[in-house]
Amino acid sequence: MCYHCRPSRRSFTTLLAAGVGMAALAGCTPDTPVASPTAAPSPSGPQTATPTPTVATTTPVPATAGSQPPPSGAPPSKAPPSGVLSRQFSLSDPTSQWVIVNKHRPLAPLQFVPADLVQPRLQLAVSGEASLLNSTTAGAAEKLFAAAASAGATMTLASGYRSFQTQTATYNGYVNTRGQASADTASARPGFSEHQTGWAFDIGDGGGACSFEPCFTDQPSAVWAKANAHKYGFVVRYPWMLHEITGYYYEPWHLRFIGVEAATDMANRGIATLEEYFGLEAAPGYL
Ligand code: DAL
Ligand code: ZN
Repeated sequence: MCYHCRPSRRSFTTLLAAGVGMAALAGCTPDTPVASPTAAPSPSGPQTATPTPTVATTTPVPATAGSQPPPSGAPPSKAPPSGVLSRQFSLSDPTSQWVIVNKHRPLAPLQFVPADLVQPRLQLAVSGEASLLNSTTAGAAEKLFAAAASAGATMTLASGYRSFQTQTATYNGYVNTRGQASADTASARPGFSEHQTGWAFDIGDGGGACSFEPCFTDQPSAVWAKANAHKYGFVVRYPWMLHEITGYYYEPWHLRFIGVEAATDMANRGIATLEEYFGLEAAPGYL
C-alpha cells in the first residue's frame, strides 16, 4: 500500500539543484495504485551524492554450484571472498536466499510461486497474500520484529509476498497514474519483483506514519532496521541514492533476507547493494 506519497515542491527544487534529476528519489510500493507522485520529498538520509554506478573489484565470483557468473561484459566481481562465508547459494534460483532479482535479472520462471509460503507471527498491517513470506524469511522476520520491539521500535508487516498477477496490477496502477518512466523507479514489472520470491517484505511502524514515504527513514522502525537488520539476515535492499545500481529509488521500508552471515559481512565491509556484493552489473534500467 502506498498511502501518502506526496511531492514537496521545496524539497524537489532542492533535489533538482543538487543535480538529482527530474524523477522522484524515493518510490512507493503500493498494493493498489495511487494517484500521485512524480516527485518525492527529500529523505533525510545521510547520502547526498550520486554514486558511481559501476561495481568493480578484483575478487572473482566464487565458483559455487548454481551460482551465476556476471553477464558478459560485466565488471570484475566484488563477491564475498571464498572462505569468508561458510556457505554459498545460487544467485539465480528463486528458492535460494541469495537470488538476485533486478531489472537485468527476471525471475526464472517468470511466474515463480514459492512452495513454502506461510503467515509469520508478526503484527500484520495487511491480510491475504500480502501477509505471507517464505518459511525461512518468516522465521527470520519473527526474530527481527521481536528484537525491534525489545528496542522500543514497533514494526508491522506492510507488504509481503506478491504473486505475478498482483505485481502486474500493482505495476500497471503505477503506470496509469504516473507514467511508465516514473513507475519504473518505484515498482518492479511483473516477474522482476523480490516480493514474488517470498524473500522480501515492506515494514510499517504500526501507526501508519510516513508509510511508504521517504520520511519513513526517520521512523524508529526504519532507524532500527537500518542499524540492526543485518543481525537477523536482512538488508535494506534499495538504499538512498544507489538507484543507478539497484534500479529503484530509496525504500527504507523494503527488507530482503540473505542470511545472517552474508548480511553481516556486507555491513562489516560497508557494501550497500547486493549487486556490488555479488559482483553483478548495475541494473538501472530494463534491458
Ligand atoms: N518496490 C519494489 C522495487 C518492487 O516493486 O518490488
Ligand atoms: Zn518492497
